[in-house]
Amino acid sequence: MATILEPPDTQTSTLPPGPTALPVVGNILAFRRDQLGYLQALQREFGKMATIYIGKTPIVLLFRPEHVRYVLTENPRNFTSREVAERLRQLIGDGLLTIDGEAHRQQRRMVQPAFHKKRVESYASAMTHYTQEMLKEWHAGDRIDVARAMQELTLRIVGKCLFNLDMADQVDTLGSAFTEMIGNPIGLLEGFLNVRIDQPFTAFGRRMAAKRRVDEFIYRLIAQRRSEAEDKGDVLSMLLEAQEGEIALSDTQVRDHIMTFVAAGHETTANALTWTFYLLSQYPAAREKLLAELKSVLAGRAPTIDDLPDLPYTEWVLNESMRLYPPAWTQGRRAVEAFDLDGVHFPAGTMVMFSQWVIHRLPDVWGDPEAFRPERWDPVNGQKVPPSTLILPIFSITSGIVTSVLVRCG
Ligand code: HEM
Repeated sequence: MATILEPPDTQTSTLPPGPTALPVVGNILAFRRDQLGYLQALQREFGKMATIYIGKTPIVLLFRPEHVRYVLTENPRNFTSREVAERLRQLIGDGLLTIDGEAHRQQRRMVQPAFHKKRVESYASAMTHYTQEMLKEWHAGDRIDVARAMQELTLRIVGKCLFNLDMADQVDTLGSAFTEMIGNPIGLLEGFLNVRIDQPFTAFGRRMAAKRRVDEFIYRLIAQRRSEAEDKGDVLSMLLEAQEGEIALSDTQVRDHIMTFVAAGHETTANALTWTFYLLSQYPAAREKLLAELKSVLAGRAPTIDDLPDLPYTEWVLNESMRLYPPAWTQGRRAVEAFDLDGVHFPAGTMVMFSQWVIHRLPDVWGDPEAFRPERWDPVNGQKVPPSTLILPIFSITSGIVTSVLVRCG
């Protein structure tokens, strides 16, 4: 079945100019060939905004940080992620990434206790524990596939924090089903086109088969936990206890939240860590500074949450790594009602898209955007960081990773 989105009424308004679109496919081919390069080239050619066509649907690319702020921070109620998130919803259901409006606000309140400081402290000890286990296997001179190692590490951490389970025991079964389901991220393009063919030979079909295996596992675990009625200190326990007035979460809602956290928290963190390793391998001076800070603050012991305020350079390294290689590099929304932005009138239904990859490389914002320079995050250096929380989904390590990711992402 295929659902193609209705184009907005562009008869009464003129969308910003953009590249020539081919009949039927629009700009899909150029976009698919090199998504990041294409977006950046369009920003260089068209400046603040450009319109591309995915099939017949116009999508307005917004290239300025202040545009992102307008959409996500100043007018979030006029911009819905429903259609864009539709494809994701088929896999992870109605979690915080795929719902909006009042339902989103209510669910947000219900899951927030899972990210209170005390809980996050216990997740932090799982993080250091599994990291140390991994490091025991690393020896000087070894060649390590860092991307794979970070995937395995973050999946183990996610499994422990979410449902108190060591995924290493199940890496061939459950681990691979999770990876099959979420490891092949759903592109924005797929989201906009929303074409579904559930067959073993399609990427969509393989994801759906993995989803069925994961669902079976999660629903079995939920049933078992409900019968035990004991707080295991993980996110699942907290979700089962969550209550607003008389309302508790149903099995389906618990499942959807768990799936959302796996999807949102696994690939993103694995990629952020992998790119950080890569950048440190390319910039030995930054690596030396980082190691010196870790040595002086930790003196060889594992970090705790309380050490984070004393590790500013570590935070700048992570910020700078995610500026250059943002794990979430595009976001899309649809305008519920007409709006005016930067002198242009946009009709109701307009699809907008922005890219962290492009915005994090704007020379007038960053000065030397291609350089990996953690020091730019030192407040004394006065870097003009765009004052929107969402352009840079950067988490302040000082306040606990997961909590602040939720606060800043939402
Ligand atoms: C490097 C790590 C991460 C990055 C770069 C990142 C990035 C993002 C971005 C850009 C969004 C906004 C999506 C949109 O509105 O279109 C988002 C939302 C979200 N993220 Fe993250 N994220 C990261 C880690 C995590 C982790 C570890 C969790 C774990 C629980 C998480 C949970 C969520 C949730 C639940 C939302 C939806 C929040 C809401 O709408 O209320 N993220 N993230």
